[in-house]
Amino acid sequence: MSSPHTTHDAKTYCATLIGCGKMGSAMMTSWLDNGLVSRVDVVDPSPLATHLSNDPRVHYYPSYQEDMPDADILVLAVKPQILKEASQKIANNISSKTVLLSIAAGQRLSTLESIFGSNQPIIRTMPNTPAAIGKGISVSVGNKYVTSAQKETADTLLRASGEHKWIEDERLMDAVTALSGSGPAYVFHFIEALANAGKKLGLDADLSMSLARQTVIGSSALAEHDGDVSAETLRENVTSPGGTTQAALETLMDGRFQTILDEALNAAKKRSQELS
Ligand SMILES: NC(=O)c1ccc[n+]([C@@H]2O[C@H](COP(=O)([O-])OP(=O)(O)OC[C@H]3O[C@@H](n4cnc5c(N)ncnc54)[C@H](OP(=O)(O)O)[C@@H]3O)[C@@H](O)[C@H]2O)c1
Repeated sequence: MSSPHTTHDAKTYCATLIGCGKMGSAMMTSWLDNGLVSRVDVVDPSPLATHLSNDPRVHYYPSYQEDMPDADILVLAVKPQILKEASQKIANNISSKTVLLSIAAGQRLSTLESIFGSNQPIIRTMPNTPAAIGKGISVSVGNKYVTSAQKETADTLLRASGEHKWIEDERLMDAVTALSGSGPAYVFHFIEALANAGKKLGLDADLSMSLARQTVIGSSALAEHDGDVSAETLRENVTSPGGTTQAALETLMDGRFQTILDEALNAAKKRSQELS
């Protein structure tokens, strides 16, 4: 099956998912919930999303089977360290009409081209974990064999779990990984640090964590609601001249916080480069 199938005017796709852990299961759930797939063949010896096993569109296999139908899109969602090994096992059986989409951090298009052949359409994507609730953001770059129809397929499936953007220069993927791929962990750590600071001011641990967590939840929701308002203006809107927020921001914006973020993102970028 190499072209989209039409059911009730909506295109649906046949997908193969190699690796059904945290990211793979989140992506598959979004495709199923949005009615975007007619069939998903899942290859994973220990899949996470077994609750979907009653869905007639989902077929589980512990290893790749040669008689699987050709998919419109094959998503590689295994850990970067085993991407090459997992790819080598399937490379000889993949149709050149199937577009491959790898979400493995740090793994370059050229690495996959060397395994699957230089005329295989391949997309490298960096998603993030809010994809599990449809609030993710993913960024993709494709090789020159990806057709506009295949780009549309990838776009449709990736937008089911949040926003999706294309870039042209693959070298930027390490920076994307450092910012949005790993970024949710930074925000969760910010909640931890905020709660710790509250405790040091005398709040009990539970109250401090509730205040920190809901402050980030509420502020994120506000940023989403006021999507056309800049972060700078949102910040200024809660900062009265000479008030408490300004007192805190004078410390927070003295350069040290930015330096720490610069260092953290550089460390993630370096690790992404090492993984390749
Ligand atoms: N988690 C994130 O925040 C995030 C964000 C952006 C991108 N990514 C990328 O997404 C990819 C998956 O990450 P994840 O967090 O979802 O990892 P994960 O939860 O460990 O999922 C990977 C799954 O693949 C299975 N697997 C191992 N070998 C396999 C094989 N040969 N064939 C098929 N399946 C196999 C694993 O089974 P076992 O557990 O039995 O080994 C596991 O269920 C990674 O490459 C990562 O770089 C992750």
